[in-house]
Amino acid sequence: MNSCLFMGMARQGILCRRMRSNAYQCLQSFIIFDDEAKDLEIIRKIISDQNQEDAFYILDVGTIIQKHKEWIKKIPRVVPHYAIKCNPDPTVIKILAALNASFDCASEREIQQVMRYGVTGDRIIFANPTKCPSHIKFAEKVGVDKMTADNELELLKIKDLFPKAKIIIRFRCDSDSTHNDCINLGVKFGCDPENEAAKLIQYTKDLGLTLYGFSFHVGSPCNEFDAYARGIQISKQLIAFSRSIGCRDVKLIDIGGGIPGETRCQLDEFSNIVNNAIKDIDPAIQIISEPGRYYVTSAFTLAAYLHSKRTILKGNRLSHMYYVNCGVYGAFVEELLNLKSRHPISLFNPLSDKKYPATLWGPTCDSFDCILKDALLPEFQIGDWLIWGDMGAYTASIACTFNGFMPPIVYPIIRKSEWKAFCAKTKMTDIH
Ligand SMILES: Cc1ncc(COP(=O)(O)O)c(C=O)c1O
Repeated sequence: MNSCLFMGMARQGILCRRMRSNAYQCLQSFIIFDDEAKDLEIIRKIISDQNQEDAFYILDVGTIIQKHKEWIKKIPRVVPHYAIKCNPDPTVIKILAALNASFDCASEREIQQVMRYGVTGDRIIFANPTKCPSHIKFAEKVGVDKMTADNELELLKIKDLFPKAKIIIRFRCDSDSTHNDCINLGVKFGCDPENEAAKLIQYTKDLGLTLYGFSFHVGSPCNEFDAYARGIQISKQLIAFSRSIGCRDVKLIDIGGGIPGETRCQLDEFSNIVNNAIKDIDPAIQIISEPGRYYVTSAFTLAAYLHSKRTILKGNRLSHMYYVNCGVYGAFVEELLNLKSRHPISLFNPLSDKKYPATLWGPTCDSFDCILKDALLPEFQIGDWLIWGDMGAYTASIACTFNGFMPPIVYPIIRKSEWKAFCAKTKMTDIH
C-alpha cells in the first residue's frame, strides 16, 4: 500500500489546506492535528477556515484504527468483517482495508465499494440471505464465494447461478432485548434453528452445494450479550449434525454484528462472553463476525448550522423552535423511526444555563423532519452550530437529498501520533 490510497478526496469536494494553529499538516484526505487538539476546536477550525455553512461530520480516523486494534487484542480468534452498510465512507473502508481487515457486503455495489481499495474476494462475505440474481453472478465473477442463505429457494437460486459458492446457513437467534432501540433482524432473516435448519442442511447436501458454515445476527444494537453465547452453542450443534450426515466442508461460525459502538461502550463484557463460548471449539473452525456500528459510531461527530428560530409565547410559557441544516433525511433517520432521541450541545457557550422547552427541526418542508420534540434545551441563537457525538452508525449510509438538502460532507481528521503509528504499521514511510 502507498500513500496514493489516501489521495483523491479533494476531487470529491473535501477541501485541503494547511491549518494554522494546532494543526500539523493537511493531506488530500486527512487533516492532521496535534495530539492535544480537541474535537470542538477542530470543528471550530474547519468552520472558520472553510467558511463552512453546510452541515458536516468530522471522522476521527484514529478511532477506527483503535477499534480495530482493540478487537484484535481482545477477541483474537474472531475475525471481524466490517459491515459497510453501517457507513460506507471511503476513508473508513480505505483505513480498514489497509489494516488488512475483512468486510461484510450485502450487494454488488457494496462489493465494488470494498474491492476498489484492493480487498480480494476471500476477505469478503456476501451476507445477505436474499440476493438478486445478477449480484450472485457478480460475486462469482469477482471471487466472493462465501454467502448466506436461509431458505430452500435461495439455495436453489445459488445452485443455478453459482454452484461452487460456499453456503453459510443463517439461523434466527434474537437477543432478549427490552430496549426499544434494538432492531430485530430475526423477523426478516434466519431459519428456525430447531425445525428448519436440519432440513436446510440436508437440502444443501442433496443439491451438491458446499455447506461451509452457520451464521446468526442477534439484532442491532444488542443489549443482551448472552445471545451470542446462545448462537455459538446452536452453531456447534449444527456443525456436529452436518458432519454426522457427511458435510465435510463445514468450517465456519459467523456471529454477526450488533455490538454497540458509542464512546461510553466497552468491549470487555462482550469479549468475555464470546471468548468463553468459543474456548472449546475445534481450532480448525474459523470464527468470524460482522460488526458495523462497533467500528464507526463514536468515530463521527456531526456539526449542523442553526439557520432559523421561532420563539413562541403561549400564556406565560416560552418555548423555542430551532431549524438546523441537517435533519431526519440527512443523518437522523433513527429519530424518524422513533428509535432514538439525541440532545446536541452548542459549539459556542449559550448565554445562560437556563433551559427552555424546545423543538429541533431539520431543514426540509416536512413536519416529520423533527430531530427532538419538547426537549429542555439552553437557548440557542441563529448562527450557532449544534454538535452531536456518536453519529457514525446508520446516518450517512441512509441519508438522501430530499428537498435539495445534501447529506453532510465528511472531514476525516487524525492526530499526529496516530498517523505516524498507522504509517509504521502499514509500512508507509512517507505521509505525502
Ligand atoms: C447481515 C448483517 N450483518 C451485520 C450487520 C451490522 O450490524 P451492526 O451494525 O449492528 O453491527 C447487519 C445490520 O443490519 C446485518 O444485517
